[in-house]
Amino acid sequence: MDLGLQGKVALVTGASQGIGRAVAELFGQEGACVALADIRREAAEQAAEGMRSKGQRAVALDCDVSRSDSVAKAHSQTIAALGEIDILVNNAGVGPPYLGKRIVEMPEEHWDVMLGVHLKGAFLWIRQAAPGMIRKRWGRIVNLASIHGISGGRPGIANYAAAKAGIEGLTRTASLELAASGITVNCVAPGFTRTPMLAVKPEMEEMMLRQTPRGALAESFDIAQAIVYLSSTQAAHITGETLRVDGGRFSYFLEPK
Ligand SMILES: NC(=O)c1ccc[n+]([C@@H]2O[C@H](COP(=O)([O-])OP(=O)(O)OC[C@H]3O[C@@H](n4cnc5c(N)ncnc54)[C@H](O)[C@@H]3O)[C@@H](O)[C@H]2O)c1
Repeated sequence: MDLGLQGKVALVTGASQGIGRAVAELFGQEGACVALADIRREAAEQAAEGMRSKGQRAVALDCDVSRSDSVAKAHSQTIAALGEIDILVNNAGVGPPYLGKRIVEMPEEHWDVMLGVHLKGAFLWIRQAAPGMIRKRWGRIVNLASIHGISGGRPGIANYAAAKAGIEGLTRTASLELAASGITVNCVAPGFTRTPMLAVKPEMEEMMLRQTPRGALAESFDIAQAIVYLSSTQAAHITGETLRVDGGRFSYFLEPK
């Protein structure tokens, strides 16, 4: 299937490792020009260099997605290097040390950082990139949600679950505002995925495998495939949707105990 991504300009936040890096690499393989925006610029530069060594077009950008000035600067740099953005993937995320505290003991900073990177970051980037897509009358936006935003997850992740549930609301409203301009806005909600953020320890892995009916954790590439499909010309009629990519994990929550 031709995904129609040849020559499209894709910006991926948090693209230096994990899911974001896999998305950037898959876009590169499909012929897209890729901007890898990350707060860890050197790591993003290494990822971009790996792509360029395969003959792909890729640039690394220094960007803290939670700051509007940083987003505006990275946006201008993308346009200068590659052109107006066609595809935006809001993937940047943080986990520990901002996770693990129940609400009654959660420092305000944990709330602010989590909501700032995941939810405000997605808002800032959509606000920045959507006008260019509206002018072109074509665009794709994919936001990273999580099964924990759907289920609540477990005690100690209220800030993460709230941010991810918020991303789904943001996505649905953005899809309504942008649909008539040929822009789709969707979420991908991964289950347990083997990345640096998850940092799977052996004792955790057994629990995660038990809770995943497929009996395997996702690799970054499994999530990236779904994101790239939703970014394709083929996915024109899918908008405001959340696609769970979780090996059946969500259904596990619904099992009678
Ligand atoms: N790994 C999982 O099991 C899982 C499950 C569900 C959802 N997700 C979501 O998928 C996304 C990617 O997760 P991952 O597991 O690949 O994480 P990761 O920690 O491996 O990668 C996150 C990336 O975001 C970057 N980043 C952090 N703060 C940033 C900021 N302020 N500005 C720009 N970049 C920043 C990091 O440098 C890193 O490159 C996240 O939104 C995460 O919440 C992951």
